[in-house]
Amino acid sequence: MHRRPDLPAAVRIWEVAPRDGLQNEPSVVPARVKAELVARLVGAGLTTVETSSFVDPAWVPQLADAEEVFSLLEPLRATPDHVHGAALHFPALVPNLRGLERAVSSGVRDVCVFASATETFAWKNLNRSRDEVLERFVPVVTEAKARGLGVRAYVSMCFGDPWEGPVEEADVVSVCERLLEMGADEVSLGDTIGVATTGQVVDMLDALARAGVPARRIAVHFHDTYGQALANTLTALSCGITTVDASAGGIGGCPFAKSATGNLATEDLCWALAGAGVSTGVDLDRLVETSVWMAERLGRPSPSKVVRVLAQRSQGTRSEQ
Ligand code: HMG
Ligand code: MG
Repeated sequence: MHRRPDLPAAVRIWEVAPRDGLQNEPSVVPARVKAELVARLVGAGLTTVETSSFVDPAWVPQLADAEEVFSLLEPLRATPDHVHGAALHFPALVPNLRGLERAVSSGVRDVCVFASATETFAWKNLNRSRDEVLERFVPVVTEAKARGLGVRAYVSMCFGDPWEGPVEEADVVSVCERLLEMGADEVSLGDTIGVATTGQVVDMLDALARAGVPARRIAVHFHDTYGQALANTLTALSCGITTVDASAGGIGGCPFAKSATGNLATEDLCWALAGAGVSTGVDLDRLVETSVWMAERLGRPSPSKVVRVLAQRSQGTRSEQ
């Protein structure tokens, strides 16, 4: 297999199905199913699995059981070198100091704050102005770093906003700069409603590079509303990005932006990268099995074509045996 010369030799996948996927479900998935999902994803070779959110349960009842999920995962979290010798990470979202305290009490080692490039979504998602959101993250990030935690910062609505329309690159750049200055290890550029195109991705990454933000501190997070998430992700990889977010089975969305649909399916990403000679460490068959298992629990098939085709193929192989 020849590697596409414009792509990195290896990609770090930041798996978000248990958090981004399950936060948007109409029903609440039991904690033991969530914990099993995380364990299966690790078993498939994913080493960073965003597990839950310590947000106000009144806002996101689907993830109100974050403590219970982390407690069920204690045995798995106690085996840090479980997969291919790589350390495992189980990040969780924290919206404020209260969330950080809850996360720390649950033994969480990696937290994510989440800001917005636009004013309207800051209010919808965090009930504060864009600037207040950033100001309130300063003590959260400072405290998390003082405790030695990993800190990622999401920036939502980087490529378009359902209320405000087009988003200025300068706004995205300045929010990213402020989050990195306050101490975040990396920023993840969220295309919350899945409207980005490859040209926009190149322009945004160019703007960040011109502002002096190194590619190693940027991740990308594409939702797939227009079916462009994979193209956008590959474009970002060809611009030097090496951390990409994806969700097993393509589940995902945001309860506070109704036009948000599923994330890039991890299976679509792994299929494409395997075909381009890029290493991910993921066992695609086990991952598909996991997404089919999860889809049965959610009561509807995965939107990912790769999942559907590979699941049918493995069923066909079993019935031929
Ligand atoms: P608020 O109502 O302004 O909060 O919400 P508050 O500070 O006024 O507190 C209200 C009550 O909530 C208080 O209770 C707090 O204690 C409690 P009371 O004293 O009245 O009994 N509270 C909490 N309880 C538990 N854990 C907490 C917590 N914080 C407050 N952490 C707040 C502000 C930020 C809390 C709220 O807006 C919130 O929780 N928002 C979360 C929204 C969310 O989770 N959105 C989805 C994730 S972001 C996303 O999906 C995008 C992403 O995928 C990237 C992309 O695609 O773009 C990351
Ligand atoms: Mg998202």
